[in-house]
Amino acid sequence: MHVYAVALEKGGCGKTALAVNLSAAFHSLGLEVLLVDLDSQASASHWLGIDTEQVSATDSVLGLISDGIKDRADAQSVLSRVIPTEEGIHVLPAHDLMAGLPAQLAAAPMSGLFLLQQIFADLDRSAAPFDVVVLDLPPARGPVLAMALAAATRCLVPVQPEDLVVRAVHALMTSVQQIRSRQVNADLQVSMVRNRYAPRSNADKILDQMLRDDYGSLLLQTIIPIRAPLRDSALLQQSIFRYSGPDVTDVRSLFVQLVDELAMLDGAQP
Ligand SMILES: Nc1ncnc2c1ncn2[C@@H]1O[C@H](COP(=O)(O)OP(=O)(O)OP(=O)(O)O)[C@@H](O)[C@H]1O
Ligand SMILES: [Mg+2]
Repeated sequence: MHVYAVALEKGGCGKTALAVNLSAAFHSLGLEVLLVDLDSQASASHWLGIDTEQVSATDSVLGLISDGIKDRADAQSVLSRVIPTEEGIHVLPAHDLMAGLPAQLAAAPMSGLFLLQQIFADLDRSAAPFDVVVLDLPPARGPVLAMALAAATRCLVPVQPEDLVVRAVHALMTSVQQIRSRQVNADLQVSMVRNRYAPRSNADKILDQMLRDDYGSLLLQTIIPIRAPLRDSALLQQSIFRYSGPDVTDVRSLFVQLVDELAMLDGAQP
């Protein structure tokens, strides 16, 4: 089971767009996907049409983590909370009380670092049908990010040539190194996806070169430009694989290409 954590501390860089549409791309290729919404903003849950007002805190990721803290979470705790969306992607929804999750984790033994890792290990051993798990993270560092990185096989980072993004990428790489060096998840991989990518000014080009110099080997080949379907599909609460507006075919192809690249790296079998 491949676990992709989509993360970066910078807000609005495309984490949720990537998490939702990558999940849909995997699903379009016949894989069973679980999307775990770790952000109290619940953007990924909403994008896929879930009305989180109808989901109790207990039935959300928050309930799963609370069970985990009490040492009572296993594969069944995930399966009982999963919502099968119309698109066929399984979603573990967020709840707005998850704003308190960092404090809850901080008070737990080892800051809850191993909770998701243990739950996913149980999920992988069980008869659960998931080939791929995608984690959508909030724009923050702290125990939620650490817990997600501890559980992930690969961290996916949406990047743009912007000063704040480049700084956030440096900070994220520090978190990744800590997770690796403390032997929490020594095999954690990282890839960067250029999303909303449009380097135009000289400053953009300098920052673009900095990203290439510092992280060249981590940058995936697929580049996702600014494309209206990625914004419009969110408003209609559909992934781009369901949305049928203009220019969507090209964007779908880019996400399929992204899945192909990940399959080359991770041996996923689309
Ligand atoms: N390549 C793109 N082209 C056009 N719009 C995009 C693209 N990528 C993302 N968007 C849009 O930009 C906005 C911000 O993206 P998104 O919500 O995915 O960012 P985020 O990193 O998840 O933000 P946050 O940190 O707040 O969770 C959304 O409206 C999204 O639909
Ligand atoms: Mg988001």
